[in-house]
Amino acid sequence: MLSLFRRLMSSQAQPTLPWFKNVPSAPPDPILGVTEAFKKDSNPKKINLGVGAYRDDEGKPFVLRSVREAEQQIVDAKLDKEYSTITGVPEFSPLAAELAFGSESKALREGRIFTTQSISGTGALRIGGQFVEKFIPSKTLFYPTPTWANHLPVFRNSGLNIQPYRYYDKTTLGFDVQGALEDISKMPEGSVILLHACAHNPTGVDPSKDQWKQLSSVLKERKILPFFDMAYQGFASGDVDDDAFALRYFVEQGHNVLVAQSFAKNMGLYGERVGAFSIVCDSSEEASRVGSQMKIIIRPMISMPPLHGARIASRILSDPKLKQSWLEDVKMMADRIITMRAALKEGLKAEGSTRDWEHITNQIGMFCYTGINEEQVQKLIKEHSVYLTNDGRISISGINTGNVGYLAKALHEVTK
Ligand SMILES: Cc1ncc(COP(=O)(O)O)c(C=O)c1O
Repeated sequence: MLSLFRRLMSSQAQPTLPWFKNVPSAPPDPILGVTEAFKKDSNPKKINLGVGAYRDDEGKPFVLRSVREAEQQIVDAKLDKEYSTITGVPEFSPLAAELAFGSESKALREGRIFTTQSISGTGALRIGGQFVEKFIPSKTLFYPTPTWANHLPVFRNSGLNIQPYRYYDKTTLGFDVQGALEDISKMPEGSVILLHACAHNPTGVDPSKDQWKQLSSVLKERKILPFFDMAYQGFASGDVDDDAFALRYFVEQGHNVLVAQSFAKNMGLYGERVGAFSIVCDSSEEASRVGSQMKIIIRPMISMPPLHGARIASRILSDPKLKQSWLEDVKMMADRIITMRAALKEGLKAEGSTRDWEHITNQIGMFCYTGINEEQVQKLIKEHSVYLTNDGRISISGINTGNVGYLAKALHEVTK
């Protein structure tokens, strides 16, 4: 007994291996790092244009009326907190799928679409990436340049070979349709292509309806599988059906598609992590096989998605009054963003800027790719306390009637 005690005491005095000595410090997240720097700035006029979350005209986070109401109903119903299922809250997936594909969707009616709840849009992309890695032999995904910074590690971590295709034209500040089509013509058959369904992040540049139709026919001919990232349904135009045009058109044209949906932006459920992942198959039997494999992918990753946010979204989507209120708020948020784009462009003109700022109002969605260079970005940050990412992307939701004048002046200062 005594010797065991002595052995224990002496082993406590032994140093352990330096397990973590060689762990290097990682760089901060390029987007979240902007907010960190903003928080440290004491200038009362500072503006954060880095964050991809909606703010009201007073610069405050906004909780939608429909979300508050649905949440109250859930609390009042005193629901239990039992485990959900591997594919989430059962009533949620069909409602999310109907929102994405439309109530008239033939594929939906035919039971050809498998849908599961996911950990918001990011989680949907991640399980979708894993599915591609496991079942699409090429394991190759082409992404638009530029794209949301997190796409690259998400798909790399899924084990995919990721390759760029041309998307944004720096000279026209618009969609590089020629470049994209040329790159698509060289993609090996059997590859996967990532498409932003609407409100492309970070450029705010979307293909026109005719260009989408062209892309659909070329991708079908080239036998490329489209993977839609739909993080902003409703946010681009203010209308959830209009913003789903590309996705629905592709499905009507007979494409098999993968879709990642997020309810972070359009329901303001950012931190609740509500999303969905769908695969459009050739038959209901195929959808059932695909679904069984998706469960095998999800279970060891997260076991199952959480309850609360999906319950909120389900109530909103299934109750006509709540849904109406939600659609009104989506429109209101999109309209505020559109109004701020116009106000910024006007403000720059009023400051005497002679640059062409037309792209500010031509672009769509939460973000604007200003076209300013890294040096000008640094000047905006250091001399004007206006925070944004190095690529010149600004989040329009950070602009309001109180700061748009200051921002226009600062932007003119660094670009004149
Ligand atoms: C293009 C794009 N995809 C996906 C996401 C994922 O967002 P979340 O995981 O918060 O739903 C975002 C968020 O900013 C995004 O901009």
